[in-house]
Amino acid sequence: MTTWITICDTCKREGWDAASGAPTDGEALAALVEAAAEDSNDVRTRRVSCTMGCDRACNITVQAAGKINYSLGTFEPTAQDAEAIVDYAAKHAASETGQVPYREWPQGVKGHFVSRHQPLPE
Ligand code: FES
Repeated sequence: MTTWITICDTCKREGWDAASGAPTDGEALAALVEAAAEDSNDVRTRRVSCTMGCDRACNITVQAAGKINYSLGTFEPTAQDAEAIVDYAAKHAASETGQVPYREWPQGVKGHFVSRHQPLPE
């Protein structure tokens, strides 16, 4: 089953300079996550503008129908963080419930979990 990574593309970390004309931190992270997920069969990505976690930029969610879903934040727009996010999402996709044993978590997602959302009743 496909796991979706939703990346907030309007997230701005402290120090982001609007005057520079640079992409937002969220846009930069989104591009890196999209590149990291490009060859995955089980992980897809999409962008949204604001997931209401602005103080914890950069924010993403990991979701699949009928599974436990997660919000994560305080990522940096780096290839290392993007790869950890995609690696975790692939494990979420492979999990029947969406729960990934802690021992399998990529190091780069540890400390980034914000909330867990139980699947909706059928
Ligand atoms: S701007 Fe990213 S959560 Fe609000």
